[in-house]
Amino acid sequence: MKMAQPARHQPTKVDEIVHELMVRDVMTDKLITVSPRVRVRELRELLRVNRISGLPVVDGDRMVGIISVEDFINCLASRENGSRVEDKMTREVKTVHADDPLVSAIAHFETTGLGRLPVIERQGGQLVGIITKGDVIAGLLRKLEIDFHQEEVHRHRASHIFEDIEADSTTLVFRYEVPGQEFERAGEASSRLRRTLRRLGLRPTLVRRVAIASYEAEMNLVIFTQGGRIEVHAQPSQIRVQVEDSGPGISDVEAALEPGFSTASDRVRELGFGAGMGLPNIRKMSDRLEIDSHPGDGTRLEMLFTRREMSCN
Ligand SMILES: Nc1ncnc2c1ncn2[C@@H]1O[C@H](COP(=O)(O)OP(=O)(O)OP(=O)(O)O)[C@@H](O)[C@H]1O
Ligand SMILES: [Mg+2]
Repeated sequence: MKMAQPARHQPTKVDEIVHELMVRDVMTDKLITVSPRVRVRELRELLRVNRISGLPVVDGDRMVGIISVEDFINCLASRENGSRVEDKMTREVKTVHADDPLVSAIAHFETTGLGRLPVIERQGGQLVGIITKGDVIAGLLRKLEIDFHQEEVHRHRASHIFEDIEADSTTLVFRYEVPGQEFERAGEASSRLRRTLRRLGLRPTLVRRVAIASYEAEMNLVIFTQGGRIEVHAQPSQIRVQVEDSGPGISDVEAALEPGFSTASDRVRELGFGAGMGLPNIRKMSDRLEIDSHPGDGTRLEMLFTRREMSCN
């Protein structure tokens, strides 16, 4: 029998960082523990106040077990709430080491189905923290954010196409055709623009502002018109974006610029648009905005973005 060829595994960014991070980096080290002689009914407050679902049982400086909200509930159900933690706790505690790679803690969660794992030092076995799936997710997000920011700065330093062009001034022009009413393709033009500006090595914050404003303008083309065009004039320190369509036009531009003003249909609102925040957002992101529109005629938006920040972000 011919076996299906397994898809070649393409490691993702997450695959990379779960090996890079250690359990110590994401665990909670503010430990809340309970003594084995505490009565189970007293756990209720501990669990509620600390919003936790289980905790290590510690006798002196030794971990002797773990007790979870499930144990607590079982105990209540069998009306044994006079009993002590040591009678109801799990004594065989699965633990991980603080210097284990995060990937091994994740594997533990997967194979055991447990919700939390106490963390001990490899040397001496001292209890130093506890790790839950929530800690893993929070830790991954933190790390992704840090790495993403560093990559952005790096990318900005690495690529300087503009500086390679020898001229007194340089302008690059990009054009995007946006079909009207095609919701499946909505957002394509502004995504392509964002990627292009990034590759030019323009400042990430500038690129982000241009991309957000262009996205809003693109959505308006898709929603309210039969299509139009976005034209971008990029210079190293300033970007001009023109968005044009040939109808139906805006009857009261001042009103349309007010936050919350929208003529979007119910169908469009069901798709999640029509909060009336597009034009206000464009105004906020850009350094200058001009709108020229007449009902029955087309609409023309011109937005200007200049480098606002002096720092290297
Ligand atoms: N290109 C356009 N052609 C015709 N009317 C437009 C155009 N762009 C905007 N409008 C009008 O201006 C109003 C306000 O636009 P805005 O982008 O602020 O809000 P919205 O598109 O209704 O909602 P949101 O952008 O929050 O999804 C729209 O409801 C629409 O009536
Ligand atoms: Mg809009």
